[in-house]
Amino acid sequence: MKKLGVVGSGSMGNGIGQTAALNGYDVILYDVAEAQLAKARQSIATSLRKRVEKGRMAQEEMDRALAAIRCSVDLAELADRDVIVEAVVEKVEIKQKVFSQLEDLVGADCLLGTNTSSLSLAEIASGMKDPTRLVGIHFFNPVPAMKLVEIVRTALVRRSVAEQAKAFAESLGKVTIQAPDSPGFVVNYLQYPFRLNAMRMVEKGIATPEDIDTAAKLGLGHPMGPLELQDMVGLDVTYYATSSIYEKTHDPAMEPPEILRRMVEEGKLGRKSGQGFYDYREKK
Ligand code: 3HC
Repeated sequence: MKKLGVVGSGSMGNGIGQTAALNGYDVILYDVAEAQLAKARQSIATSLRKRVEKGRMAQEEMDRALAAIRCSVDLAELADRDVIVEAVVEKVEIKQKVFSQLEDLVGADCLLGTNTSSLSLAEIASGMKDPTRLVGIHFFNPVPAMKLVEIVRTALVRRSVAEQAKAFAESLGKVTIQAPDSPGFVVNYLQYPFRLNAMRMVEKGIATPEDIDTAAKLGLGHPMGPLELQDMVGLDVTYYATSSIYEKTHDPAMEPPEILRRMVEEGKLGRKSGQGFYDYREKK
């Protein structure tokens, strides 16, 4: 059984752990706080239970997946892993620290991937003794449902490492594309301007969130509207990601609008806080 370590147990980290456990991996989910890990385990159990209730999965499969995931607050437990994916907060110094610790901990053959969506891989890798071993393995939310993984390569990454990353993603049933180490990679470079424009339309009073989302679903065939999606992903995530891309590129299409900054300041982060472009407090 292949051994996976996931560093960071938020929605991306726990989604990656869940998907790997369902695909036969032995998983350790690492985080700094027990409370965060308890929340992650709960969220995995809820997601699996829904699939069992819908008849898409047998109870035994759910039990097996849950048993294959161990939670830990001790990074040293990741020493024997074959693959480690980092999915911590989008702060370059924090990611650099994680990888310099991991480099000293794991064997030379362990695949080291980052799930960053908005930071420069080259910058993260610059803090490593061997920057040729870091590759981007970028998943999409919700990880168990989204088929795509972007394999992001720096100019330095070894070809064999990128090939290993592709094989790892495929072993989870995902389809990969290659993406350059440039702001937003491929998917976010496409989708952020769309989502930010939806927010600008609300800000300018051009249309309501409901009408914008209906337009995208029924007029463009999107599975979710941009503002529903925004609430699912988290307004803070988009604010920090687009701010970081805008700082680097000064591309006006990536500039976070005032409404986004204000809502984040007010704690309206989407589903997770109960309020975003929609109100979830009744349904919580
Ligand atoms: N966890 C696990 N599985 C989930 C899930 C979750 N949170 N949400 C949905 N699923 C699974 C369901 O179990 C179901 O699986 P099944 O076909 O085996 O039964 C399948 O996904 C479809 O779900 P539903 O039938 O419940 O609902 P929908 O058909 O409405 O699909 C959706 C839900 C997959 C979320 C769909 O609405 C969708 O594709 N939305 C767009 C999502 C998107 O754009 N994601 C990208 C976000 S941006 C990003 O991730 C960038 C990063 O950098 C932050």
